[in-house]
Amino acid sequence: VRAGRCVVAVDGPSGSGKSTVSRRLAAGIDARYLDTGAMYRAVTWAVLRSGVDLTDAESVAKVAAEADLRIGTDPQGYGVTVDGVSVDREIRGPEVTAAVSAVAAVPAVRALLVARQRELIEQAGRIVVEGRDIGPVVAPDADLKVYLTASAEARAQRRSAEDATDVAATAADLARRDRLDSTRKADPLQQAADAVVLDTTELGIDEVVDRLRSLLTERGVA
Ligand code: DC
Repeated sequence: VRAGRCVVAVDGPSGSGKSTVSRRLAAGIDARYLDTGAMYRAVTWAVLRSGVDLTDAESVAKVAAEADLRIGTDPQGYGVTVDGVSVDREIRGPEVTAAVSAVAAVPAVRALLVARQRELIEQAGRIVVEGRDIGPVVAPDADLKVYLTASAEARAQRRSAEDATDVAATAADLARRDRLDSTRKADPLQQAADAVVLDTTELGIDEVVDRLRSLLTERGVA
C-alpha cells in the first residue's frame, strides 16, 4: 500500500554508502529516488562539452542554465539526459569526477539545481533524496534527515571497488573532493542539526536501511 507524502534527506561524503542505502530504502517504502550528485555531474558534463573555462563562474552558470537536464526518479534505474543525449556512463567517468567539485561550487549552478530538485520532490511527494545539502538546504522540512559517515579508509575501499581503481589514488581523490565540498562558500557539505547520524564503517547496508525504516515507522510516515 502506497502511503502519503514522505521526504527522506540523505547527506554525507562520497563512499559513505549514501547511494546504496537511499536506493534500497526508496524501493522498500515504495518511494521515488533522486540522485542530486548525478545532476551536478550532468551539468559538469555539459560544461566540459562546451569547452568553457571551469574557473569562469559566469560562463559555467550560463551553460548550466541553457542545458536541458532531465533525470528519472525510479530507484531501480533512472536515466540522466542533457539536451536529449543520454549521459549515464559519461557522468561517472574520470573527467567529470575531476571537474564536478568546481562546478558544484558555483552559487548560480546550485541555485538552479536546488530549484529543480524542489520541483522534483514536490512532484514525487514520496521520495528519498541523496546529496550533500539536502537536509540543511534543499528539503529543510523533510520527514527524516540522515547523515551517513564512514572512516576515510572504508570510504576509499568502497569507491575503489566500485570504480575498479587503486585504493591509494582513490583515497587521495576522495580527500581532495571532501575538502573542496566541505570548504566551499556555497552550501558546503554539512550536517543538519536535526539529522540522524549513522556511521556505516561497521554497520552493513541492510542494518542501516532497517534502522531508517524503523525511524520512519516511529514517525508514522512509512
Ligand atoms: O555524490 P556524487 O559523488 O555523485 O556527487 C558529485 C559531486 O557533486 C560531489 O563532488 C559534490 C557535489 N554535490 C553537491 O555539491 N551537492 C549535492 N547535493 C550533491 C552533490
